Amino acid sequence: MSPRTVVVIGATGSQGGSVARELLKSPHLYRVRAITRDPSKPAAQELAAIGAELRCADLSEGAEALAAVFAGANAIFALTDFWATQSSEAEIAQGRAIVDAAARTSTLQHLVWSALPDPEKLSGGALLHIHHWKGKSIVTDYIHQQYPALWAMTTTVLFPNYFENCLTHPDRYLSKPDAQGVYNMSFPHSPHTVMPNVSIRDTGKLVQLVLESGTTYFAKTIAFYNQALAEADKLAAIGEKYNLRTKYHTLNADEFQRLLETRDGMSPEIALDFTEQLLMFEKFGNVYDSPEFVQAKEIPGLKLQTWVEFLEENNLLAYMKRS
Ligand SMILES: NC(=O)c1ccc[n+]([C@@H]2O[C@H](COP(=O)([O-])OP(=O)(O)OC[C@H]3O[C@@H](n4cnc5c(N)ncnc54)[C@H](OP(=O)(O)O)[C@@H]3O)[C@@H](O)[C@H]2O)c1
Repeated sequence: MSPRTVVVIGATGSQGGSVARELLKSPHLYRVRAITRDPSKPAAQELAAIGAELRCADLSEGAEALAAVFAGANAIFALTDFWATQSSEAEIAQGRAIVDAAARTSTLQHLVWSALPDPEKLSGGALLHIHHWKGKSIVTDYIHQQYPALWAMTTTVLFPNYFENCLTHPDRYLSKPDAQGVYNMSFPHSPHTVMPNVSIRDTGKLVQLVLESGTTYFAKTIAFYNQALAEADKLAAIGEKYNLRTKYHTLNADEFQRLLETRDGMSPEIALDFTEQLLMFEKFGNVYDSPEFVQAKEIPGLKLQTWVEFLEENNLLAYMKRS
C-alpha cells in the first residue's frame, strides 16, 4: 500500500507539530503535508528537514484556497487557533472554511478535528463567555449538521490543559519567589478542583493511533487527557521536587479576571473568557470525564505521559526563575 497523504494544519505549533513529527517517523505509512503561513520560519524548515512537504496557506483565505491545499489528501488533522485572532467570528469562519474544503476533497478518508466542548451545553447556559470553546463546538456542529458523509469519517478530539502551558506561560502556571522566598500561584479554583491534563507532545501518538484504527473512532469524540489534576497539587509537586516553599491562593472570579488583565495584559472580554473556562471545572467538575466521550487514557496501547514524568523531563525551576 502506498503511504497515505496527511495534511497537518498548525504543523509549526504544539498540537500539529506533534502530529507531523510522529507521522514523519513512519514514511512508509505517511506523507506529511505541513501547512504554515510562513514556510521560511525555523519550525517549518525543521519539518522540511525531516521529510515534510511544506504548503503555504492561511486559514482565513477561505474554502477555495484550502481545497487546493487539501487536494489528494487521505487524512487531515485540522485545528483553528483562537489565540491568534482572539475573535470567535474569525475562528468559526476559519473552521467552516476547513470543513467546506474537506467536504470537497474526494480522496479524503479521515478528518481529525481538534475541538473543545460546548460550554453552554455543559453548564446548562450558566457560562456564556467561553468563546474559544464555543466557536470550536459550533464548527463541530457544522460538520455534523451540514456534511453527514464527512461527519461519518470525522474523529473529534477535545483537548485539555497542556502540561506545557507552564513552559509557554510561566507567569500564569508557575511563579516567581516573593520577598520571603515563597512561590505563589493564584487560580479561581479550590485547591481540590481538578482539570484534565496531558502532555501536548503526546498528540501525535493519539492521532497516529486513531488513523490506524480503521473506522473505530469515526463519528466519535475523544476526551484527550491522561490525568485530572489540581493546579495546587501540580505546584506542590514542583515544590517537593526542588525543595521550594510554595503557596496556592484561591481567588474569586473577579479578582482572577483583574489579575489576567493587569499581569497578562488580557482585554476584559478575553480575561472573562479565560476565567469562565476555569470556572467550568470549579462549578461542574471534570466535564471531560463523561460517558459521552471516548476516554483517551483508556485506549489500549496509548501510553501518555504523567505529570511526574513531565517534571522529570523538564527543568521547571529554570522557567520559574525566568518568569
Ligand atoms: N493551551 C491549552 O491548554 C489549550 C487547551 C485546549 C485547546 N487549546 C487550543 O489550541 C489551539 C492552538 O493550538 P496550538 O496550541 O497547537 O497552537 P500554537 O502552538 O500556538 O500554534 C499555532 C499554530 O496555528 C497555526 N495558525 C494560526 N493561525 C493560522 C492561520 N490563519 N492560517 C494557518 N495557520 C495558522 C500556526 O501556523 P503558522 O504560524 O506557521 O502559520 C501554528 O502552527 C487554540 O485554538 C486553543 O484554543 C489550547
